[in-house]
Amino acid sequence: MKHVLVIGCGLSGLCCAVTLAQMGHSVTLAAPYAPERSQSVLAAGGINAVDPSSAEGDTVACHVDDTLRGGGYLASRAAVERMCADAPEVLSWLEGLGVCFTRREDGGIDRRAFGGHSHRRTAFAGTATGKQIMFSLIRYARRLIGEGRITYRLGMRFHSALIAQGRCYGALMLQDATGTLVPIYADATVMAVGGPNTLFGKTTGSTLCDGYAAGRLLMQGVVLKDLEFIQYHPTAAETADKHLLISEAVRGEGGRLYYLDGDRRVYFMEELYGPEGNRMPRDVVTRHIAQAGRTVYLDVSFLGAARIRERLHETWELCRAYLGIDITQQSLPVAPAVHFFMGGIAVDASHRTSVDGLFAVGECASMYHGANRLGANSLLSAIHGARVASQAMDQDPRSFVPPDLTEAIRHARAAIETPTANGCSAQAIDRALAACLRTSLGIVRDERTLAEGVSQVDALLAQVRASGVRGTTVYESYRTQARLVLARAMLTCAQARRETRGAHVRADHPAAHEDAVSSLLTYDAGAYTVWYRKEDAICW
Ligand code: FUM
Repeated sequence: MKHVLVIGCGLSGLCCAVTLAQMGHSVTLAAPYAPERSQSVLAAGGINAVDPSSAEGDTVACHVDDTLRGGGYLASRAAVERMCADAPEVLSWLEGLGVCFTRREDGGIDRRAFGGHSHRRTAFAGTATGKQIMFSLIRYARRLIGEGRITYRLGMRFHSALIAQGRCYGALMLQDATGTLVPIYADATVMAVGGPNTLFGKTTGSTLCDGYAAGRLLMQGVVLKDLEFIQYHPTAAETADKHLLISEAVRGEGGRLYYLDGDRRVYFMEELYGPEGNRMPRDVVTRHIAQAGRTVYLDVSFLGAARIRERLHETWELCRAYLGIDITQQSLPVAPAVHFFMGGIAVDASHRTSVDGLFAVGECASMYHGANRLGANSLLSAIHGARVASQAMDQDPRSFVPPDLTEAIRHARAAIETPTANGCSAQAIDRALAACLRTSLGIVRDERTLAEGVSQVDALLAQVRASGVRGTTVYESYRTQARLVLARAMLTCAQARRETRGAHVRADHPAAHEDAVSSLLTYDAGAYTVWYRKEDAICW
């Protein structure tokens, strides 16, 4: 039996925790907030799986092809094949947990169309698929917690990995309630911390996912990958605190995008690509909305109120509550917004990171999605990746006697700045960083905007290193430098990739290279090094 520390309690973290507990391992699940507040709860449109209830003609091979094509052929074919082959089992596991997928009249799980798919493949629960899945999983995890098979430590934030002699032996965690750093030792440690949303200020994702952990791990020598690939979801709506996701399900159910030329509606995606134009892959739709250069609307009212309330209930409610728009009657102004990070912590086929004993799953790990994630593959990849990582930990026959970690702990504590009374304001740095990244790592990039981004982030880093940081909490103070380092790493990868592929669009390099290779990045004392490998050749 191993002791595994899982950091993060969104979908991938919870899946890892319950799977390992079922395998008989002792699990500590540590996270700052309860799983009901995780980003996974926001997932709307559905989860892809081909099984006997799928649309006629659909096959696992079609799912694989759509995933690879959508991702600009960057992802590992072998990994995508394993994920798509596992999808039907994932779906029945979820049903077994009590997830109520929307069903057809013949009793089979219904499917909806999604962007970039050759068939109607996406299983769904209204437009609250993530909520349905998470609430069933949370109920199950609570049972395992009650039985003492998972130790749940709420109010704990990741601070540093405990790395000694090239191996990870757990993590140093900040306990919110006391402001103290607490080591948690483990045979294996799993990072399940989500994507770096708040680097960009507002996104469609959770404001609790801030990129600190990936930045800190990079500074500790962990290799990151494909950081330049950032997905802009084509249809979001602006609110004060975030970009509200208007699920692709709306277009999946027939929603149409248009802009106005005088009084005339121009259905630009249909004019360009035919009747399926509104359901092109996200990067394509996003680029055309950006190029339109005027307000773009999404109309689904023609479906009628009954159908909308049946199929898109939560989207209808969200739009009424937060935007004051009734989509059964009115079109909705939409615009692209940062939605998903294809890059992150580099992992091999078993979800091992470059540091032995340290794994990564879910959105913080870079796997399966290549240069642009296919819609409705994120819930699937989070669950599948957690199963793969759990199996790898379970099957690892090695046992370890941890070395003396006093020095590793001392080093981790010392490497982080403590709040400085006269330091720069953490919030002002956050705002400057978000503004910088929204411009330099926007939908379309070029050398000039990227170079400007690099010099702005370097200036912020110099300021922070010279004066320290003043945050409103201990965490806000110490997270700043690592987030800036991560942002600089993203810009470095985007600058180095002189081609257009998937979500990385270079106005100055509009063609794709013949060879699709992933970028890997390391950091050492202020130096960022990028090199390239085929994704399926990544092993440690
Ligand atoms: O539009 C959506 O419902 C998003 C789904 C996804 O990101 O996979």
